[in-house]
Amino acid sequence: MPWPTDRDSELFDLIAAETERQNTSLQLIASENFTSPAVLEASGSVLTNKYAEGYPGKRYYGGNQVVDEVEDLARDRATALFGADHANVQPHSGANANMGVYLALLEPGDTVLGMRLDQGGHLTHGSPVNASGRFYNFVAYGVTPSDERLDYDAIRDLAVAERPKLIVAGATAYPRIIDPEPLRAIADEVGALLMFDAAHIAGLIAGGAHPSPVPYADVVTFTTHKTLRGPRGGTILCRAEHAAAIDKAMFPGLQGGPLEHVIAAKAVAFREAADPSFAAYAEQIVANAQTLAGALGAEGFRLVSGGTDNHLMLVDLQPFDAELTGKVAQDVLDRAGITLNKNTIPDDPRSPFVTSGLRIGTPAVTTQGMGEAEMAAIATLIARALRGREDEAELGAVRDEVATLCSKFPVY
Ligand SMILES: Cc1ncc(COP(=O)(O)O)c(C=O)c1O
Repeated sequence: MPWPTDRDSELFDLIAAETERQNTSLQLIASENFTSPAVLEASGSVLTNKYAEGYPGKRYYGGNQVVDEVEDLARDRATALFGADHANVQPHSGANANMGVYLALLEPGDTVLGMRLDQGGHLTHGSPVNASGRFYNFVAYGVTPSDERLDYDAIRDLAVAERPKLIVAGATAYPRIIDPEPLRAIADEVGALLMFDAAHIAGLIAGGAHPSPVPYADVVTFTTHKTLRGPRGGTILCRAEHAAAIDKAMFPGLQGGPLEHVIAAKAVAFREAADPSFAAYAEQIVANAQTLAGALGAEGFRLVSGGTDNHLMLVDLQPFDAELTGKVAQDVLDRAGITLNKNTIPDDPRSPFVTSGLRIGTPAVTTQGMGEAEMAAIATLIARALRGREDEAELGAVRDEVATLCSKFPVY
């Protein structure tokens, strides 16, 4: 019996509206990007029809000859791209990848070090509202108040005092390089394993713009949809000695059937990231972030830690306007066609739902082809919208300029 043939305009009109939104407004959320048509094609393919519980060569269902080749291709491309011993490409998301690692390497109640959520860490690094914080004894490290950067000596002291089984590195809102080398030394000194969550910076690592944690960490997790520019999902890389435990934790430990259409799209993204042009892309993401940060500083905003080494910056709104919260700024900028998110700054006096800061990222606008001239223009547009936030005409004028800018860099 065939499918209904009438067009589901209720749903597809919404997708058209979202395409229009992405084409006509500025996407500055640091964890977002625009995937290639090839990634979209693979993730919309017939591979979605196939059940493939297990791993290539060891499936619970028949008919996986082709799917095995797809997953092998994705695994091989991931290990080649990052120089890792082993890859598991099945995690449905970055959160699942992290939980898979904990399930593989820890027992409930084990002590783990992770970065503070309100200073840039991720929910899955031990937040009490997340399964990681409920099942494991996470102890948090943060940034130093004076320079708003990680202090490896302080992390060492904490590790010596706490004797964790695992040290988790990586962040969701930290604008500086996280150096894997001292973290490996600390882990070795206290007999801990090292996990590096490279969700945000996987593309910068693949493109050679950031140091790779792969030679240092026991396990590296990442999302494929941020700077790496692939489909929504996660991947785990690990040393050969952890491969069996990681695979067993992902399936049957945590997930059921893998999303083979998404795994195919990951394979496409790994190939695209291995192309020489991707190194230029990664470098341009960072150059754009540094230009945007400098231009925002000139508009009177304070950059947390003084600037950025990566694809994102944290903006402290207080010197620009002491009354302006991150929540209000996010809403105002949304109305002006500029999409970004409110974010706590270190030692933020306001709650995480209100905040005194914004997180701004350049991966998507760099994919569009915008460069340093456009970054300067974006800083001006942000400042104008926030200064004129009570003035609908001014917000409308900014929104028109945003649409004109975006029309010069069409995406889809
Ligand atoms: C550092 C870090 N780890 C994990 C994740 C979780 O990824 P996902 O949203 O795919 O579960 C994120 C997402 O923002 C992240 O920033």
